[in-house]
Amino acid sequence: MTYQNILLEKEGGVARVTVNRPDKLNALNHQTLSELESAFDDVAADSSVRAVVVTGAGDKAFVAGADIGELLDVAGEASKASELAAFGQSVFRKLEELGKPSVGMINGFALGGGCELALACTLRTASTKAKLGLPEVSLGIIPGYGGSQRLARIAGPGVAREWILTGDMFTAEEAHRVGIVNRVFAPEELEEGTMKMVHTILSRGPIALRFGMEAILRGWDASQTEGETLETEFFGKASETADMREGMSAFLEKRKAAFKGE
Ligand code: COA
Repeated sequence: MTYQNILLEKEGGVARVTVNRPDKLNALNHQTLSELESAFDDVAADSSVRAVVVTGAGDKAFVAGADIGELLDVAGEASKASELAAFGQSVFRKLEELGKPSVGMINGFALGGGCELALACTLRTASTKAKLGLPEVSLGIIPGYGGSQRLARIAGPGVAREWILTGDMFTAEEAHRVGIVNRVFAPEELEEGTMKMVHTILSRGPIALRFGMEAILRGWDASQTEGETLETEFFGKASETADMREGMSAFLEKRKAAFKGE
C-alpha cells in the first residue's frame, strides 16, 4: 500500500512508523488512522519485524491530536462520533496487541489522540521539549481513543483524573515522574537513546518478551489470582523453549546468549 500521511520503514528488525503531516502537527484524520491500521497489520504479519518505533515527522509534534476539523463533522451525531471513537480504539488496540514491543518516541506535542497513540505503545520515550496531555475537555469532549482507560491503568486513576479533568499540558519530566514516559532524553539524544533501549530489548529472548508482554496485557483486566495463574502458564511455557536452556547455559558459561526464538 502507498501511504500519504505516514511513513513505514523497516531496518534491522525494527519498523518505524512516522505520522507524516507536519504542517498539521501530524493530527490524525480518518485517512491517517486507516493508514496506521494498514501499517500495524503489515508489521504484525512481517516476521522480520521484531519491534516497532512510532513517532511524528518534523521537529514540533509527535501527534497533536485527532483532526479537530474532522471531529466537528460528527458534532450532534452521537452514533457517528461513537463509531469514530470505536475505529480509533480498534487501530490503537492493534498496536497494543502486536505481540511485538513498540516504543512511542515522543519528539514534540503528544496531545489528545497523539497522547493516546503513545499510550497504546508498549513503552514511551520523550524529548525534554515534548509536551503531553489530554486536552479534550477544553473542546467539550473526552478522550475517545482509549485514553481514559489506558492512562488510568498505566499511571493510576488519580493521575488520569488530573490529566483528563484539567486538560493541561505536561512536560516530559512530569510525565516521567508519574510513570507515563519511561525515559527522557535531550532532543538530540532522543533517537539514539530510544534505539539503544530497543536494541537492549531485542537482545533478550524473543519468546520470553512475548510472554512477558502478554502476561502484563492480559493481567490488566484480571484479578491478582487470575493474573498469577496466567503468569504460571507463561512461566511453564517458557521453560519448554530452547531459549531457556540457551539463556541459562550462556549465563553459566559467561557468554552472551544467542537466542533463536525457539
Ligand atoms: N487538528 C487539526 N489541526 C491541527 C491540530 C489538530 N489537533 N493541531 C494543530 N493543527 C494545525 C493547526 O490548525 C495549524 O494549521 P494551519 O497552519 O492550517 O492553521 C497547524 O496545525 C499548526 O498549528 P498551530 O496551532 O498554528 O501551532 P502552535 O505552535 O501555535 O500550537 C498546539 C501548537 C499543539 C498548542 C496547537 O496546535 C493545539 O492546541 N492543537 C490542538 C491540540 C488538541 O486540542 N488536541 C486534541 C484534539 S482531540
